[in-house]
Amino acid sequence: KAVGRLYRLRPNLKFKAAPLARGLKAVRAVKTDLEIALMRRAAEASSAAHVLAMAKARPGLCEYQLQSFFEKELLFHGLVPSYPPIVAAGSNAAVLHYFRNTAVMRSGQMLLLDAAGECSGYAADITRTFPVGGRFTRRQREIYEIVLEAQLAGIAQVRPGTTTDDLQFTAIEILCRGLLRLGLLKGSLDEVLERKSHTLFYPHGVSHMLGLDVHDVHLQDRVPRKADRMRAHVILRENHVITVEPGLYFIRALLENKKLQRRHARTVNFAKALDYLDLGGVRIEDDVRVTARGSEVLSCVPKEVREVETAVRKG
Ligand code: GLY
Ligand code: MN
Ligand code: MN
Repeated sequence: KAVGRLYRLRPNLKFKAAPLARGLKAVRAVKTDLEIALMRRAAEASSAAHVLAMAKARPGLCEYQLQSFFEKELLFHGLVPSYPPIVAAGSNAAVLHYFRNTAVMRSGQMLLLDAAGECSGYAADITRTFPVGGRFTRRQREIYEIVLEAQLAGIAQVRPGTTTDDLQFTAIEILCRGLLRLGLLKGSLDEVLERKSHTLFYPHGVSHMLGLDVHDVHLQDRVPRKADRMRAHVILRENHVITVEPGLYFIRALLENKKLQRRHARTVNFAKALDYLDLGGVRIEDDVRVTARGSEVLSCVPKEVREVETAVRKG
């Protein structure tokens, strides 16, 4: 995109597009101190907006009304949304890029809020999922805790040298073990991985680069083990900023698909999974800077079960 713009600005300029694009990607992937300061601000203000939204959520409120509270708080901090907010109550959370935001939140439902702002063009990208009424049901909590475990394990792995694919393998393993424990997956972990049965419940990647774009540019590295469904195959370096965002979803179109039901008959308990459709899904997403030895999480919104319930009940 940047190269295209340069062509339009200086049509007579002679340059080799490919090395220039590579150079720009390399420069954009590793953030300077100033860029990090802007991203920290974006993440902090977006976090404040998440905390406010949690407190404002209640049964009877429309998704777009919650969005209005969120965006108002962003604007108060001088930020605009970095992407169209996903405000998804109940089963809407299973629509990965849900954007209508027109449904009414009901008691007993969870709300998935994937929303954030940008500061001088630098984006945050944050998701929380919380019970609209202030208390998770047992089922919701069980799914939530699996996703949280996967997210914390991913963040703990972030340091120079780790690949984004490593993060995906970690997420997949923890999510699968959790689903096996609950009886939503069956058989052995190896069988599940072999058939890729987890993709019915977790059909996306765990991480992408973050910066001037929400899905920012990167150079694809040659990684030792490539994971499925990842936009970026990147060996992490100091001052990369990435998201860590595992999730679990109950997607009607996949769970009711006869072909998938046949293919995954040995490893997925479809009868049980279909009973979870109302739950929708859970995603937990934070923005993480790679430091010299580990990581700094830029976003700060409650995510432990008790903290989340308390934040929602504050309203
Ligand atoms: N909000 C888009 C994403 O999480 O990748
Ligand atoms: Mn993201
Ligand atoms: Mn997101």
